[in-house]
Amino acid sequence: MKNVKDLKVKGLTVLVRCDFNVPFVDGKISDDNRIVAALPTIKELIAKGAKVVLMSHLGKIDYKKEPEEIEKAKKKNNLAPVAERLASLLGKDVSFCPATRGEELKAAVAALKEGDVLLVQNTRYEKGESKNDSELSAEWASLCDAFVMDAFGSAHRAHASTYGVPEILKKEGKQTAVGYLVEKEVVSLKRTVDVPNEGRPYVAILGGFKVSDKIKVINSLVQKCDKVIIGGAMAYTFLKALGKNIGQSPCELDQLDYAKKMYETGKLLLPVDVVIANDFNNPTEVKTVSVDDIPEGYEGMDIGEKTMELYCSEIAKAHTVFWNGPMGVFEKEQFAKGTIAVCKACAELENAFTVIGGGDSASAVKQFGYKDKFSHVSTGGGASLEMIENDGHLPGIDVIG
Ligand code: 3PG
Repeated sequence: MKNVKDLKVKGLTVLVRCDFNVPFVDGKISDDNRIVAALPTIKELIAKGAKVVLMSHLGKIDYKKEPEEIEKAKKKNNLAPVAERLASLLGKDVSFCPATRGEELKAAVAALKEGDVLLVQNTRYEKGESKNDSELSAEWASLCDAFVMDAFGSAHRAHASTYGVPEILKKEGKQTAVGYLVEKEVVSLKRTVDVPNEGRPYVAILGGFKVSDKIKVINSLVQKCDKVIIGGAMAYTFLKALGKNIGQSPCELDQLDYAKKMYETGKLLLPVDVVIANDFNNPTEVKTVSVDDIPEGYEGMDIGEKTMELYCSEIAKAHTVFWNGPMGVFEKEQFAKGTIAVCKACAELENAFTVIGGGDSASAVKQFGYKDKFSHVSTGGGASLEMIENDGHLPGIDVIG
């Protein structure tokens, strides 16, 4: 795969698709990890004397809703604050174009000089973005001489800015490449897709809310891994499938047969005890019980001590670990112990390759101070799962290749 460092782009306009889909709290960026991760590619292009045009989506805009709702969503998902944060991280001006197509955008791109950086408003302000609309792709492709894919978190989306544009540019014989962020992600995640004998045992740790969101990846992991550890809310669907009473814990009744089938592969490890509470938002009674003794009126909030021991001893044997999804409601301190125990067990591994597949588990390792102890913390939750499901392939990366 061609890398940004191989491009000859002095004086050329280079469109870089980034993933600046960052979280906001009270209108302020609360985690700029994805912006920081994109800096090496942007700096490389500035140093090469390219005119750098950055595009990204932010949030979701549902075009099936009423016009006022759509306007509200656009206002909420305005990308302008990212230009400011990027300027301060780069230590140079970053101009912002509020238009996503038409004369205003064309003029903003034409005004760029070598080494200048322009950020374009949220690509999802265009209805055609998520549909990979061919006219929209052609208009964006016409603005640039080369394309760099550095949005790993969006590489599982075959949208206009991630797929349509590079597809057109490639047909026109123009330069396309991946950026440093995408290259590092692909190299790291491929080590969890094809694991040779010396990388075994390979242990996957899956948590999070729904089994139904993770069906494809569970199918894939039971084939690829030696053990698949299950935690978080999704564990209760598995426990229910084994005939346990799970009280008020979340459960997907339509996934029980699937959960049972997966359990029968012999690859899954399920909780043996859990921390339960009488109320999710206002827990006044909290206790640890065996999974055989979950009473009515309580719901599972975390894995228990015995489960922590069981999971940590399995992790201790691993030479490769892939982790997606927390073990419990880690945002609340009293239910964070299971997730912290797993963080620690992974962090203590020597001679192991440990990967966090984005999302909440990436926030958890950061919050608990273990981020630097992992071999790789992916910037893409959905993308890293799909990379495993699709044996190392993602549309937004394959189109460059
Ligand atoms: C993410 O945050 O997972 C990526 O930016 C993709 O966002 P999407 O699920 O809205 O396409």
